[in-house]
Amino acid sequence: MSSAQSTLAIYPGSFDPVTLGHEDIARRTLRVADQLLIAVAHTATQSKRPAFTVEERLAMLEEVFADEPRIRCVSFEGLLVDFVRREGAAFVVRGLRAVSDFEYEFQMAQMNREMYPETEFIFLTPDAHLSFLSASLVREVAQLGGDVSAFVSPTVLSRLSRRFDRGVSVEGTGSVGGEG
Ligand code: PNS
Repeated sequence: MSSAQSTLAIYPGSFDPVTLGHEDIARRTLRVADQLLIAVAHTATQSKRPAFTVEERLAMLEEVFADEPRIRCVSFEGLLVDFVRREGAAFVVRGLRAVSDFEYEFQMAQMNREMYPETEFIFLTPDAHLSFLSASLVREVAQLGGDVSAFVSPTVLSRLSRRFDRGVSVEGTGSVGGEG
């Protein structure tokens, strides 16, 4: 915990890009924490080909949460548990959309706890109308020219259209996909 008065939560992820589902989880977290650190990981557990660089993802998060002074957005390298320890966070929050998320989340939480037993994980469910949403589906639909305006903030939407209008990924392969 960051201090006796203030509860700090960390919301780690790839956020490639941040969706309305992530936004919902982040804002819900402020009901149980005083401050939230949204942390973009340089290393993601599931192998993915990113659409956006870590810096671009961070910029989008900062734009999306510009209205919320209790949220800070950062990136981190290395292990999540080391970052959590350095920041003195009270808990890590993750979104749980469906039973299908459970195995991956449970495995990560248990592995993290093995490495740093003080880590607490809290899982929040998004609003029902966002429970099908994932960043990978948003990337795929946007890349194929579909309308994702109902799933991301306007600032993210405009970056997605610019990215896929040019038809390139950050690796310059022209192909973007993956899980998560
Ligand atoms: O949004 P994602 O891709 O599901 O988030 C996964 C993330 C970033 C939380 C996870 O891959 C992670 O914690 N990465 C940091 C490196 C690390 O600590 N790996 C060991 C996990 S047990």
